[in-house]
Parts: sequence; C-alpha cells; structure tokens
Amino acid sequence: MRSTPLTDRSPPVSPTPIHQRQWLVGGKLRRWDGPVREVFSPVLTGGVPTALGSFPLLGEPEAHEALSAAAVAWGKGRGVWPTMTVAARIGCVERFLSLMIAVRERVVETLAWEIGKSRPDSEKEFDRTVAYVRDTLAAVKELDRAGSRFQQVDGIVAQVRRAPLGVTLCMGPFNYPLNETFTTLIPALVMGNPVIVKPAKYGVLLLEPLLAPFAEAFPSGVVNTIYGQGKTVVSPLVASGGIDVLAFIGTSRAADTIRRDHPKPHRMRCVLGLEAKNVAIVTPSAELDAAVRECLAGSLAFNGQRCTALKLLAVARPVFARFTEALAAAVDRLVVGSPWTKGVGVTPLPEPDAPERMAALVADAVAKGARVLNTRAGRIDATTFFPAVVGPVAPGMRLWHEEQFGPVVPIAVWDDIEEPLRWVRDADHGQQASIFSRDSEEVAVLIDGLANQVCRVNLNSQCQRGPDVFPFTGRKDSAEGTLSVSDALRAFSIRSMAGAKDTPENRAILGDIVLSHRSSFLSTDWLF
Ligand code: G3H
Repeated sequence: MRSTPLTDRSPPVSPTPIHQRQWLVGGKLRRWDGPVREVFSPVLTGGVPTALGSFPLLGEPEAHEALSAAAVAWGKGRGVWPTMTVAARIGCVERFLSLMIAVRERVVETLAWEIGKSRPDSEKEFDRTVAYVRDTLAAVKELDRAGSRFQQVDGIVAQVRRAPLGVTLCMGPFNYPLNETFTTLIPALVMGNPVIVKPAKYGVLLLEPLLAPFAEAFPSGVVNTIYGQGKTVVSPLVASGGIDVLAFIGTSRAADTIRRDHPKPHRMRCVLGLEAKNVAIVTPSAELDAAVRECLAGSLAFNGQRCTALKLLAVARPVFARFTEALAAAVDRLVVGSPWTKGVGVTPLPEPDAPERMAALVADAVAKGARVLNTRAGRIDATTFFPAVVGPVAPGMRLWHEEQFGPVVPIAVWDDIEEPLRWVRDADHGQQASIFSRDSEEVAVLIDGLANQVCRVNLNSQCQRGPDVFPFTGRKDSAEGTLSVSDALRAFSIRSMAGAKDTPENRAILGDIVLSHRSSFLSTDWLF
C-alpha cells in the first residue's frame, strides 16, 4: 500500500473552540469544575489534530443526580411528563425544534469538525433529523387519534392507548451523533418517557448548542445529559435498576455488558442498533456500471462508517474481473480532503486507532491470500486511510466476518448462487443485503433466500436506513427492536387499556368520565 500526495486538506476557517463546562440536570444547566476531556478533530492543522475544546468528565454522583432528576419527572408514572397531555408534550418538542433550527450552523460545523463528516453530509444529517422530528410529531398525533376511541368486543368495552415505559437512557453512536441519537430521543420523549442522554465517545460538542434549548423547552428533569466513562456514568445507573429503557446504538458486546449490569434485565426494555455486515450480491446479469456506482457509495460513503454500509461484496466469477477493475478505478478517483473540500470522498477518521485497524484487516487478508486491488490503497497521514479494495476474500480472513466499519472494501467471488446465500445464512449479522441483477427469476430466488436472513433486501441499490417510514431493524447480532417514525413510538411505549363489562351501569360511568374530562387516559378528545 502506498501513500498518496494530497491536494486540498485544509479547512476554510479555524473552529471556534467549545469548552463545555455545563451539563443539563433537573432542567438546569449546571456548572462543572471537575475534570474534562480535551476534544481533537481528526482534521489536522499543521500536521496535528485540531483542538476543538473540551467537555465534562462527570463522576458517579453526577450520573446519579441525572437519574434522580429523571426519576422525579417520571414520578413512577405519575410525574409531570408522563401525565402531561400529548398535545402539551408535542408543544414542548415543537418549541425545542424551533430553538434547534436556530443553532443549525453551529451544530453542523461542529459535527464536521468532530467526526470528519463532509460539510454537505453534516448538513444532511441535521436536516434529516429536523424532518424526522416533524414526522414523529405527525405520527404521534395519528397514534393518539387511533387511541381516542372505545372498542366493544365480546361484552367488554375498553380503551387501549400507548403508555410510556419510564426513565430512558439514550446512547447514540459517533457516526450519526445527532441523527441516531434523536431517532430514539425524540420518540422516547414524545411518548412520555424522561430521558438521560449519554453521547458517544466522539461527537459530543456538537450537542452543546442544544443544551440551552433542551432546558428551555422541557420541564425539569425531562431531558438530562451525562458525559464520561461508561463504567463510571452508565454502569452504576443501570446497576441501580433505575433505567427502564435502554436505547443504544453501538456494538452487541457493549450492549450485552450494559444489559448485564441491570439487577433485573427483563425489566429494562432494550432498543438496540448493533453491528452489521451487509452483503451485496452481484450476479452475471447485473448492469455493471450501475452496480459499481451503488457499491462504491454503499461501501464508502462517510468512509464506510455507516451501520448500513455494504461490508462484503459477493461477485459472480464471470463478472468478477470487470467489476473489481471498475470498482478499484472508481475508488482511486475519490477525492481526499477535509470535510470542506469540494467533492470530497475520503475524509479523516475520528477514531484514532482506525487507520491502524484498517491496515491490520488488510494485512490479515493479504497474508491469507487476498490482494489489494486498487493502487492508492493505504494510509495517508495520522488520521486518513485511503480506501482499500481487497479480494478475493474467503472464510478464515478477518474481513470475512468482522465488521470493518471503515474504508476497506472486501470482495468475494462465487460460482453458484447458493454460495452467497449460504454465507449470509451462516453469518452472525442480519441487517440488510443488496442484490444486483436484471434477471427477475434470479432476483426472486435471491429475495426469497435473503428475506428470512436480513430485514431489508435492496434491489439494484445500496443498503440504507431511509426513508424513515420503512422499518429499520436487524436479526441475530444486528438489532433488537424496530425503528421507523411510527415503529419508534411503539418501541418506547406499551399498550395499556382500561376496560369494563359492557353493562349499562359501566357505560354510564365511562361516559361520565369522558364527558367531564376527568381522566387523561380515558378520553375521546381528538388531537388536531
Ligand atoms: O449507521 C447507521 C445509520 O442509521 C445508517 O443510515 O443508511 O441513512 O446512512 P443511512
């Protein structure tokens, strides 16, 4: 692997440092004078990571304070937040959203600096999050309307509504530190669950401009933030038994460790987005140019740091040479730069050990018989790794089964269509797959072979999460629970009902409650 000369890697301006000394607890921004963690951008200035600021490294007592504040807001289900009307909760989220939009530029710019995401993709992450919040509010109205009626079944008259679950710990990932955090945070909140947010290791400061909006828009204790080592600030909270819902995006190993800390794990609902190893199956009938385009974007958008990225390309032998040659050439044409470089395709990696990790994966495959297929593959500087296309990969190589979560594209070759189907069946992951083919008979066989192994099969396109009305989930080690705009509302709530024998007396009681608006649960009010 060779190093590549660089053209434009410099950001247009220096970042405005954020030295965050506050954390949000009990509706107040509290001052922190204890230890902090310095934050450096993977974007280099003068050859070294650019200093971006620092954030609090809280201790166990502060974590417990956040939990107590959330527990008060929950009030064992009788607190201010779970008993507030859905309309009032929506009002709080709408207020927050308008304040969030006002700080868009600061969030987007910090996002680009902190995790090296290109400026256009950082903007996209912000804007799609705003759209997700709006769609969630529309969906919660729909859900509330559906619950605003009585059902009469087999002599029982009842009202069934979705009710909140309790204190929710939201832990987002570094690759979508805003979007993926908010796709659990907002549904959890709007369904009536107070929340404690623990940002990922990278991508913390971008949330700082949102602390004051959270404090202003929500009642005390409804949104709280914690920062620091998982062992110090997460384990004790879970071990206390006070976390009712865990929303976690990360590795299954970390999720299992967190869950094990709970004294009664069955009591903690888990909504998990975990690792994936999505396979693209390219058949001899594929339109190769289009397949190469989709596989390029699918494998290497944001340097391959997407859970939905294509992480193994399985290519039929008759088209293997043509496909790999075209893909390798397309990869070599990618522009290296900073998040602000025009047309950038390769940016610095936020995890300091990522370039070494990528190199080790490639070296392992090469030692076991694979070749590096593109000329620019390899390390560029301390934080950037030019994507490596590696093949043919085979069982026994780390790239075969490990999620690389970075700029390495492993390609395998197959002779019989049953082979890639077997690989997917035998894998530990089960999120999505892609098929590239123009033969409807073949496509039907592949869809049927994949649909019970993964949770989304993409025809002639890369894997992806959106549009967010579609279910986003996975089997095996890839997920627990389903997220989409409407599924997330279900994930963070449970159906609860009040019912009675359908007698004239009971009907009179129920009718009186509804007409006098004495209950917030038993209500036929229509949410406009
Ligand atoms: O990293 C996982 C993301 O949710 C993937 O979203 O497919 O839109 O990039 P995306």
